[in-house]
Amino acid sequence: MKNPSVSIIMGSQSDWPILQAATTPLTELEVAFETSVVSAHRTPERLYTFASEAHKRGIDVIIAGAGGSAHLAGMAAAMTHLPVIAVPVPSKHFNGMDSLMSMVQMPKGVAVACQAVGSSGAFNAGLLAAQILALKDAELRTRLQAWREQQTANVPNEVE
Ligand code: RP5
Repeated sequence: MKNPSVSIIMGSQSDWPILQAATTPLTELEVAFETSVVSAHRTPERLYTFASEAHKRGIDVIIAGAGGSAHLAGMAAAMTHLPVIAVPVPSKHFNGMDSLMSMVQMPKGVAVACQAVGSSGAFNAGLLAAQILALKDAELRTRLQAWREQQTANVPNEVE
């Protein structure tokens, strides 16, 4: 995609089925994004280059999804001033509780916006990224407001 504003990184290719949900609202709201595998422990130098240079490439918001002892978002946030939105991926042994705790419980001084565990969290990460960008983009703000109105209109009054 040309000139992405949002970068979606994930610790492993195995995280993609979850992180893919972040692309739904971004696509619907016409926000350009990029995706890549960046592992804090398997590719630490890739993470360093990515996080320290993302703003120079025009990235405005980072979405970081990982499972297990999920230090990816915190490490990325430590090396950039860009907002980092974390998505805890359900893990094999603790159903994502370890991912959630690693991401949500950041020590004071480095902020990470942690979402819900799993696909809903990934979807909301995409939505939140769009909301951040909409602060300075009137056309995106208009699309976002229409998207929200449509969502409200889609909720039926009656139980079928
Ligand atoms: C983490 O370990 C990844 O984010 C993934 O959720 C988990 C398992 O990775 P794989 O062993 O499937 O590559 O780094």
